[in-house]
This record gives sequence, C-alpha cells and structure tokens, in this order.
Amino acid sequence: MRTPFVVGNWKLNKTVADALSLVTELKNQLGAVKGVQVGVAPVATAIHAVAKRLEGTSIATCGQNCHWEASGAWTGELSPQLLADAGASWVIVGHSERRQFFGDTSESVGKKAAAVIAAGLGAIVCVGESLAERDGGRTLEVVDSQLAGGLASIDASSAAKLVVAYEPVWAIGTGRTATPAQAQEVHAHIRKHLADRLGAACADSIRIQYGGSVKASNAEALMSEKEIDGAHVGDASLEAVDFIALVKAARPS
Ligand code: 13P
Repeated sequence: MRTPFVVGNWKLNKTVADALSLVTELKNQLGAVKGVQVGVAPVATAIHAVAKRLEGTSIATCGQNCHWEASGAWTGELSPQLLADAGASWVIVGHSERRQFFGDTSESVGKKAAAVIAAGLGAIVCVGESLAERDGGRTLEVVDSQLAGGLASIDASSAAKLVVAYEPVWAIGTGRTATPAQAQEVHAHIRKHLADRLGAACADSIRIQYGGSVKASNAEALMSEKEIDGAHVGDASLEAVDFIALVKAARPS
C-alpha cells in the first residue's frame, strides 16, 4: 500500500507572514491527519520560517527547485544542501513552469534529482505533456523521454526518496483537469516505465502524484484511481480552507 502524498506548491506567492499564517492553520487542522502525507512548497525565502513552524508535525516542507551543485560560483542558485539546512525534506524538480520559462531540460532535471537524493532529501520529479503534444498523440512518448532524462541517475536503492508527479501542462492553472481515466492511463504507463527501469517491486513502491487543477471537488475521484497516489496542487493550496478540504478528500476511503 502506498500512502498518498499531497503537496501544495505555492509557486511565486506569499510573504513570510502570509506563509506562516497559512501554515499555522494547516498545522492545526492537518498536523495529526492520518492516511495521507502532506507537504507544502513555499517560496525559498519562507522555507526556514515554515519548516520551523511545522516542527513536530508530519507536514513536510519542500523546495520548488534547486541547482545540482552543492556550492560554488552559481549566482542566484540554491543547492539541495542549503534547502535541507533551511528545513526542507523534499524538492520539486522539473516543474513544467521551470521547463517552459527557465530552460530546465530533462538532462538538467536528471542532474537535479540525483543531487537532491544524494543530499538525503526526497525528489519529486515532474513530467507532463503540452496540449499540442496530447493532441498530436504524443503524450506517452513525451512522458517516457522526460522520465528517461529525469531519472537517469536513479536506481532501485534511491527509489524510496523518489516521487513522480504527472502534471499535464494543459491542466495546470487552467481549471481543465484530466479526467480520472485520462490520468490513470498515463499513471499506469509511468508505473510500467518505472518497472522496466527499476523492477516491478520497486516501481510498486513509488508514489505517482497527479497535478493540474486538482481541488477538493475532484480529488476523491482522481485519488480513487489505482495508480494515482496523491496530488500536486497549485491554486487550491493557497487558501487553508481549500487545501484542508482537498487533503481530507484525498484520504483513502
Ligand atoms: P494548479 O493546481 O493551479 O493547476 O497547479 C498545478 C501545479 O502546477 C502544481 O505544481
């Protein structure tokens, strides 16, 4: 049995004060939630304060991105080691907004994922096709190629520190969610890709999150699909009431 993992990706939102006020509500309402793992990914400037506020709870603090080097002449970058020092335990890599606007490639995502895991953190590797790729019938091919690059350095021994997030680009921030059946089809394909690379038992243990306009009203239907093991949430993670309802809806029944 895989424990579902629901992560709120706050993207470029919230001051430290706003982040603390949201996370305090999450701590009060979800700090002892059972059957589901919860994480939040604040902007980098709020990670330390959020992680401190969440100490003693099971809610994880996550970075939204990182560099693959530990230190050195890399102006503006953050390493997995520094994210860990600030209190993060997971790092998202390869989010489609990074790929689209900041030049992340499957190769650089692979280097980042390897660096995250080598630093002792968990890596959430995001994959997903654009609308043109879906309409062109290329979804599975695109996802395979992103996985091949993104997981290039992952082996069965690091799989416990790996989560894959399937986030179709056309469903992110658009209000247009993949249907549970559409998501399940791609998740099953990802599971097979993982099994071919890492072996069936290892693949079975890896959580595959779905992301793209997930909210409380559609979370239960998505999570009830066999291969969907949690959610990667943008907009609906910015208000406590929405995110708490979503996490509760994502618990296995
Ligand atoms: P939305 O939930 O706003 O569609 O964003 C999804 C996402 O990109 C999570 O990382």
